[in-house]
Amino acid sequence: MRLDGRVAVVTGGTKGLGRRIVEAFASEGCKVVAAGRDKSAGADLVESGGDVIVHEADVRDPESVDELMRAAAEYFGHLDIVVANAGVSRPGPAAQLAPADFADTMATNLGGVFHCTRSAVPYLERSEHGGRIVNLSSALATRVAPGASAYAATKAAVEMFTRVTAVELAPKGITVNALCPGLIDEGMTRSIKDNERVWALYAPKLAMGRLGSPDEVTAAALFLAGAESSYVNGHVLEVNGGLNW
Ligand SMILES: NC(=O)c1ccc[n+]([C@@H]2O[C@H](COP(=O)([O-])OP(=O)(O)OC[C@H]3O[C@@H](n4cnc5c(N)ncnc54)[C@H](OP(=O)(O)O)[C@@H]3O)[C@@H](O)[C@H]2O)c1
Repeated sequence: MRLDGRVAVVTGGTKGLGRRIVEAFASEGCKVVAAGRDKSAGADLVESGGDVIVHEADVRDPESVDELMRAAAEYFGHLDIVVANAGVSRPGPAAQLAPADFADTMATNLGGVFHCTRSAVPYLERSEHGGRIVNLSSALATRVAPGASAYAATKAAVEMFTRVTAVELAPKGITVNALCPGLIDEGMTRSIKDNERVWALYAPKLAMGRLGSPDEVTAAALFLAGAESSYVNGHVLEVNGGLNW
């Protein structure tokens, strides 16, 4: 039980990769608050037993995130781990991207990470295990994919935000790292194989010739959230099987 006695908040925890992270943490003894805008999507997570609750929260809204962290600490007694996983992708060439889509991508992917850090620190600094923040980045933070300008810019910013806050929060006993998946067979990338044109573009870039499995991402999330990563701070952990990109 690698996360025994710990309490985690996972944003975007009711669907996709976030949901897999919630399940993996719970199976390692962690009490987990899965957060998302659509609370009903997590109903079966709660019914499946274990210590998982679902909390409605919008990471774009600082008050909603304040309330999420407060609720987690109140319900389970403390807070040790935050996985800032909620994210959106609004693809399209920059010249044609709607300003509202650009703003929403920024507010969710970058604003959400900022709000989670800001709201969680007062609880994480009291963690007896050492606080952990894991921010979700993406292979597109450092690789060019036409049509992904807004998304990629937010993920590049998340990586730099991670490095700066890692240094700021180390004296409080909190580590901050980024988990950086490549193309994974889950969530927003799952359908990539179904689109012949898109798959033809990306398949040759996958050094292992396949998408990553969600379990390969949750293994890295468990490492960054647990005791084994106690001296890993400000790191961007790429989980992409090698990318020829
Ligand atoms: N799948 C991949 O291959 C891959 C690769 C690299 C990086 N990532 C990153 O991994 C993370 C999860 O992606 P995914 O593939 O699992 O995507 P997904 O299936 O689309 O899930 C996104 C999650 O974010 C939540 N969310 C979106 N906007 C939100 C908001 N304003 N407030 C709260 N929650 C919000 C969604 O829940 P609601 O709709 O209920 O709010 C959902 O649970 C993202 O940060 C993504 O950039 C994924």
